[in-house]
Amino acid sequence: MSRLNGKVAIVTGASSGIGRATAKLFAVEGAKVVVGARRKAELESLVAEIAAAGGQAVALAGDVRSEDYHRALVALAVEQFGGLDIAFNNAGILGEAGPTTGVSEAGFAEALTINLTASFLAAKHQIGEMVKRGGGSVIFTSTFVGFSFAFPGVAAYAASKSGLIGLTQALAAEFGQQNVRVNAILPGAVDTDMYREMNDTSDKQSFITNLHALKRVAAPEELARSVVYLASDDASFVTGTASLVDGGASITRT
Ligand SMILES: NC(=O)c1ccc[n+]([C@@H]2O[C@H](COP(=O)([O-])OP(=O)(O)OC[C@H]3O[C@@H](n4cnc5c(N)ncnc54)[C@H](OP(=O)(O)O)[C@@H]3O)[C@@H](O)[C@H]2O)c1
Repeated sequence: MSRLNGKVAIVTGASSGIGRATAKLFAVEGAKVVVGARRKAELESLVAEIAAAGGQAVALAGDVRSEDYHRALVALAVEQFGGLDIAFNNAGILGEAGPTTGVSEAGFAEALTINLTASFLAAKHQIGEMVKRGGGSVIFTSTFVGFSFAFPGVAAYAASKSGLIGLTQALAAEFGQQNVRVNAILPGAVDTDMYREMNDTSDKQSFITNLHALKRVAAPEELARSVVYLASDDASFVTGTASLVDGGASITRT
């Protein structure tokens, strides 16, 4: 398949989980990919896997809390591949969880910084390069938690991730005339390191599984396919959306 032929993409949170699966699928679909996260060895193994499959990718390790890191990712896309068309701003953390009366201000702020402020910083530096190419697609990873579903004990996560939906709408309205589309993807539960950290017993896992109409959680590759759709021209009239890919968790009451 080649739905992203000739495109250049940045993927953050590419060292594992949804980001890693998406970077691989972007490359299979013909995109040249700049991959980012803090764990350098994981990024290097991803670049090697993509190259072995005939794709092109480069890695830059760093922390999404740093504005300079976003500048550097964009500069790398321009230097190595000539510009930027697609950005999947996906890096995220669960943050400090537990009864909200015990959550520290620093823990709450950390979730906001990594999940929300870093996404703003990323888009701030990405959109100008997309405009130079005549348009582009920005995708943020939000979640069903804090949108169509509420759990106790994850206030920082829910607040930071639902803030991304407002950011998505604001940027979509601001840059639509320049053909930059901006969407948020809202996964249900996906079998990744973060999911296992949140659901560390079989009881918790079966509780979460049962919340979904499909009675299972997603594989990261299933999210990757939805991100490719939003990144590609198949979604040419899709912008400003909070796009649920949640296995029916939002409509399930049994
Ligand atoms: N799994 C789920 O059920 C689920 C559901 C809804 C939404 N999500 C969202 O999906 C996204 C990806 O999570 P995942 O489930 O794939 O879990 P994951 O495997 O833990 O991936 C998280 C990614 O974010 C990166 N990251 C975290 N903090 C960072 C920082 N300060 N700077 C740079 N990179 C950072 C991690 O890389 P390094 O550690 O190498 O830096 C890693 O690549 C997250 O935004 C998460 O909130 C997940």
